[in-house]
Amino acid sequence: MKKLIALFPLLAILLWQACKTESGKPLNPNGDSELAILMRQMFEDGERVREQIKNGQPVDIQVDFEKIMTAKATDPTKMQGKEYPHFAASYVEAMKALRDAPPAEAQDKYSAMVATCMNCHEQSCPGPMVRIKKLTL
Ligand code: HEC
Repeated sequence: MKKLIALFPLLAILLWQACKTESGKPLNPNGDSELAILMRQMFEDGERVREQIKNGQPVDIQVDFEKIMTAKATDPTKMQGKEYPHFAASYVEAMKALRDAPPAEAQDKYSAMVATCMNCHEQSCPGPMVRIKKLTL
């Protein structure tokens, strides 16, 4: 188990690179894509909502999550094919279910939402998965 933990930073670096270009630099020299910025907001909002659920507080979602359907990615080929819209729609549905959930169901709906992040990332962009795992309850 200890060995496994020691491997994590290495794994994180390898996976992080997996979502960049082969040179290791971001594709967009002018900065971060609209989608990358949205993703960071989704992550930060997720961290906040996670605390709310852990503290038994009402869930208050602030990120404009439906933008995931239209925001432009660094590498638009990541959004081509039918997988991206399919995964994006699952995420939007999961966010709505969480937003509208009665308090007793918030925890389950939250976990289901984090699973939709992981599903898309597994397919299109494994780099941030290590980070997304921190959102699990
Ligand atoms: C429908 C597919 C999809 C879903 C769902 C999804 N992501 Fe992403 N995510 C991407 C893609 C594609 C990128 C690369 C964006 C780019 O570089 O333009 C990305 C990038 C990221 C990044 C790296 C951003 C950066 O700093 O460059 C993080 C962190 C992230 N996602 C977290 C999340 C979290 C948290 C969720 C769920 C709340 C989530 N993602 C749901 C496809 C998805």
